[in-house]
Amino acid sequence: MKNAISIIAALFAAMTLLPGCGVNIEGGSQAAAGSTFDEIVASRRSVRDYAAGTTISEAEVRALIATAMEAPSWANTQTTRYYVAMSEEKVTAVKGLIGGNSRNTTNAPVMIVSTFVKGQSGFGRGNPADAVADGWGAYDNGLSNAYFILKAREQGFDTLIMGMRDADGLRQLFGIPENEQVMAVISLGKRASDPRRPDRKPIDEIVRFY
Ligand SMILES: Cc1cc2nc3c(=O)[nH]c(=O)nc-3n(C[C@H](O)[C@H](O)[C@H](O)COP(=O)(O)O)c2cc1C
Repeated sequence: MKNAISIIAALFAAMTLLPGCGVNIEGGSQAAAGSTFDEIVASRRSVRDYAAGTTISEAEVRALIATAMEAPSWANTQTTRYYVAMSEEKVTAVKGLIGGNSRNTTNAPVMIVSTFVKGQSGFGRGNPADAVADGWGAYDNGLSNAYFILKAREQGFDTLIMGMRDADGLRQLFGIPENEQVMAVISLGKRASDPRRPDRKPIDEIVRFY
C-alpha cells in the first residue's frame, strides 16, 4: 500500500513536468526571490484578475525596464520605448482604450504602452535590409517585453500583454510621435487568483531537428 502511494506520488510529480525541459507547469503564484529561471517561467501567466490596493513605485518599474533594456536588438538599435501610466487619471485613460481588456485589468495599478521607433531596426542607411523591414523592430519590441514580464514575475508582479488596443487613442494620450509604432499594452500588478495554464502544443509540432 505504502509502495502504491509512493508510485502515485512519483507519477503525479512527473506529470507536472513539461516534456523535455523540466519546467514545472504548476508554478502557482509564488515566484519568491531566489527562484530559478524555470520557476519564474512556470509561474508567469497572463493575469486577468488583479488584487486591489497594490502599489508599485516608479523605482520598481524603472528596475523592470532596465532589465528589458538588456534584451538584444538589431545592431543594438534599442528602438523600444515605454510610456508608463502610474497616476490614477492616466491609468484610467489607458484602460478606456483597450476595449474588453479593461475588464481584465481592473485593479492593475500600472499600465504600460510599448512602442518602437520605425525605420531603424532591420534597416541600413535608411533602407530595409530585407523583406522583414520594420518587422524586426516588432521582433525587438517583443524580446524587450519578454524580458520585462519575466523580470516582473521574478519581483512578485504579474502582467498581461494586450494586442487589442486603440493605437490612435494611445498615441494621442501620450503624445507618441508618428515615427513610433504602437505595439502592446502591458498591465502590471499582483494577481488576485491563480490562472489556469493554457495548454501548449506538443513539442514535435513546432520543432524539426536535422
Ligand atoms: C502579442 C500578444 C497579444 C495579446 N493580446 C491579448 C489581449 O488583447 N487580451 C488578452 O486577454 N490576452 C492577450 N494576450 C495573452 C495571450 O492570450 C496569452 O499569452 C496566451 O493565451 C498564453 O497564456 P499565458 O500567457 O498565461 O501563458 C496576448 C499575448 C501576446 C503575446
